[in-house]
Amino acid sequence: MSASNGPDAVGGTAAGGVRHVAIIMDGNGRWAKKRFMPRAFGHKRGVDTVREVARAARSMGLEALTLYAFSSENWKRPEDEIADLMGLLRTFIRSDLDEFIANNIRLKIIGDYQALAPDIVEMIEDAMARTAGNSATTLAIALNYGSQQEIARAAARAAAKGAITAEAIEAELDTADLPPLDLLIRTSGEIRLSNFLLWQAAYAEMWFTDVLWPDFTATHLKDALDQFASRERRFGGR
Ligand code: FPP
Repeated sequence: MSASNGPDAVGGTAAGGVRHVAIIMDGNGRWAKKRFMPRAFGHKRGVDTVREVARAARSMGLEALTLYAFSSENWKRPEDEIADLMGLLRTFIRSDLDEFIANNIRLKIIGDYQALAPDIVEMIEDAMARTAGNSATTLAIALNYGSQQEIARAAARAAAKGAITAEAIEAELDTADLPPLDLLIRTSGEIRLSNFLLWQAAYAEMWFTDVLWPDFTATHLKDALDQFASRERRFGGR
């Protein structure tokens, strides 16, 4: 992380009432293409951004940061790209787990991660267990995640317990132990939710930026939080 765009450069606690931010990290491929490089290069730089933004979230006092890393639709990508993404995930957990532990960051995975390769499932469960008691910030990573599927799973569990109410379904979502979602960010100029946190976004503010994910910095996160602070949230009231 460079000194010019790390969390120290933006400094202080910027969260201003924001507890939970989620990000649709988009634009790795276009970032690489602009540099005549393979998509894998964009994803690799995307992981560097994950690291920087997670550190910034921690230093800005966010309780939770949820990142869309691999959707249930991403299996349609070419096999080598999927392998690259899974390889990056392995490296990320291996290299950053000690930092999470040292910085009181809890790692959580949302989505049907059990369907990933057995060694990844094992790494994830080990990392979640070793950070379970950490309380500063939760870094939630969405893997093999689809919001409609999550809602269907939650509704089935709620039904099995006898009550299909909004509260009962919400209590069964993968995010049930996270604060309500305040702000949803999407990079790369696309204006859609792509089956991410559809339920949780009911009252979230949205922030869309043309910046491609590998170019996203702590300063952009701070800008989004500052704009959030100036918005008046009504939650359906007046
Ligand atoms: C979208 O860019 C990005 C993804 C599908 C994956 C996001 C993954 C990472 C940032 C790396 C892995 C993350 C972790 C936590 C290890 P795109 O490839 O769709 O970009 P494009 O729309 O420009 O083609």
